[in-house]
Amino acid sequence: MAQPRLFAGLMSGTSLDGVDGVLLALQREHCRVLGHVQRPMPQALRAELAALNQRGDDELHRARLAAAELTRLYADVLEDVLRQAGVAAAQVVAVGAHGQTVRHRPDLGYTLQLLAPADLAEACGITVVADLRSRDVAAGGQGAPLVPAFHRAVFGRPGADLAVLNLGGIANLSLLFGDGRVLGFDCGPGNALLDLWAQQRLGRDFDDRGQWAATGSVLPGLLQRLLDDPYFGAPAPKSTGRDHFDGAWLQRRLQGFADASPQDVQASLAEMVACSIAAELRRHMPLAEELLVCGGGWENDDLLRRLRRHLGDCRVSDTSRLGLPAQQVEAAAFAWLAARAIDGLPGNLPSVTGARGERVLGAIYRA
Ligand SMILES: Nc1ncnc2c1ncn2[C@@H]1O[C@H](COP(=O)(O)OP(=O)(O)O)[C@@H](O)[C@H]1O
Ligand SMILES: [Mg+2]
Repeated sequence: MAQPRLFAGLMSGTSLDGVDGVLLALQREHCRVLGHVQRPMPQALRAELAALNQRGDDELHRARLAAAELTRLYADVLEDVLRQAGVAAAQVVAVGAHGQTVRHRPDLGYTLQLLAPADLAEACGITVVADLRSRDVAAGGQGAPLVPAFHRAVFGRPGADLAVLNLGGIANLSLLFGDGRVLGFDCGPGNALLDLWAQQRLGRDFDDRGQWAATGSVLPGLLQRLLDDPYFGAPAPKSTGRDHFDGAWLQRRLQGFADASPQDVQASLAEMVACSIAAELRRHMPLAEELLVCGGGWENDDLLRRLRRHLGDCRVSDTSRLGLPAQQVEAAAFAWLAARAIDGLPGNLPSVTGARGERVLGAIYRA
């Protein structure tokens, strides 16, 4: 059999918590992680990227500078991963680099991930595959989620209905049906609003293990208001981001609940996340045998408890059960997408994104 080929993936998601880098050995559809490094996002960069998610002064200039700084962080993570794995840059075929989403408007025909891929190719001496979402949007798709094709490749089992839930800032589901069909879409907020409220009222980046939420009680009136957003009931394909579920969204829904205790609000937010995910799963895959969870939200015990309560018999585990730890899955997906691009193979699933057809994704910056 041919030697495995090495690809790296670099990912920073809507949570703005940090950058994940993974080195993957790929042999046909079989993949093995050789290294994983996670570096936190420096506070100033995080604040600037969050600010760039809103309209503001001198955006073009600031966006390019932020992209350069983020790219340096990507390059550092990549260097760490290679060192950890004891692999030289020359051995890596390509790196798939996601960049930071600062606008996601497929409704207007674009999605924008900040990154300086030319800088990254110069810094690391490895071929870079970037801008992986735009081509799908150009073909009429949502440009998201892109992970379902990878989920199918590594987790799919013929004959079994299996769901994969990525609990990042946004929660997205991949539904892998036993007959080979795949659906996938963003359910709505995952950790994003939980993080925001914890930052505003707890002074922490996030609610560790959901311990704070667990001290609160769900407020039925507030829960109803939170779930009263047309996004939750909308048919797939659909995708969303910080453009929609942001601080202003939360503020509007909290009107009339000024007396609510902050922990009750946090519990209600967590319940909203669990309810919205469970409703989508029931609607689209009522016979799911298992829900495999990945992303940082796997660490949130309170959220997982709520989710399990809604899902009854469906087994809920994390993706490490099938060989890939929760925090490595998304970066691994972008390494896999880089391989697809280099091989000239499509990376999107039209059944998921709504694109007119399969497309080879990404722009290639040769080493
Ligand atoms: N110990 C923990 N307890 C609760 N939540 C956690 C914990 N560790 C990580 N998280 C959550 O996971 C998020 C990061 O998840 P990640 O999958 O990287 O999301 P994204 O793709 O949006 O960056 C954090 O912002 C936080 O909300
Ligand atoms: Mg992250």
